[in-house]
Amino acid sequence: MRKITLGALALTLWLPLAAGADEAAPENYIKYRQQYMTALGGHVGASAQIVRGRVAPEGHLARHAAAIAELTRDLTVLFPEDSDFGETEAKENIWSEWKAFQQAARRAAKAGQAFQAAVQGGDKAAIGQTFRDLGKACKGCHKKFRKKKAEDAD
Ligand code: HEC
Repeated sequence: MRKITLGALALTLWLPLAAGADEAAPENYIKYRQQYMTALGGHVGASAQIVRGRVAPEGHLARHAAAIAELTRDLTVLFPEDSDFGETEAKENIWSEWKAFQQAARRAAKAGQAFQAAVQGGDKAAIGQTFRDLGKACKGCHKKFRKKKAEDAD
């Protein structure tokens, strides 16, 4: 997992002023989507701690579920054409099999919404089931469309 130092963050915050015209360059999406996915992974990981009963912070599962439902809403936007070179684990078939990729993204969006609905409903079995389905939706897409890296478990 890449770490952002405060110094790098401060620098990054100034960059838009200088970059301007380049802000929509496809390759800029590589870093952006990795940070976005990392945020999504953080919410899923934190939810897992709560779903498994390891921690029980009041009201937090609803927060994570809301974030997950929001972040999985339209993952395809993170993958503009020509954002397939450089330091990315995105596989070529994302663009050559775009329909299947869209389907995998839709599946995650539905799973995110179902998880949020289950959390709102408060039924433990439903929360567990929809959380497992969500994990499958993440893995399903990674398996087909993300290059394997030895250090990653999923
Ligand atoms: C529609 C496909 C798709 C779905 C669904 C999806 N991902 Fe990803 N994910 C990717 C791809 C492709 C990459 C590689 C991106 C890159 O390196 O440019 C990735 C990368 C990641 C990374 C690594 C980010 C980094 O810093 O390199 C994490 C963590 C991650 N995803 C978590 C999740 C979680 C959690 C879910 C489910 C809630 C999920 N993803 C759902 C396609 C998907």
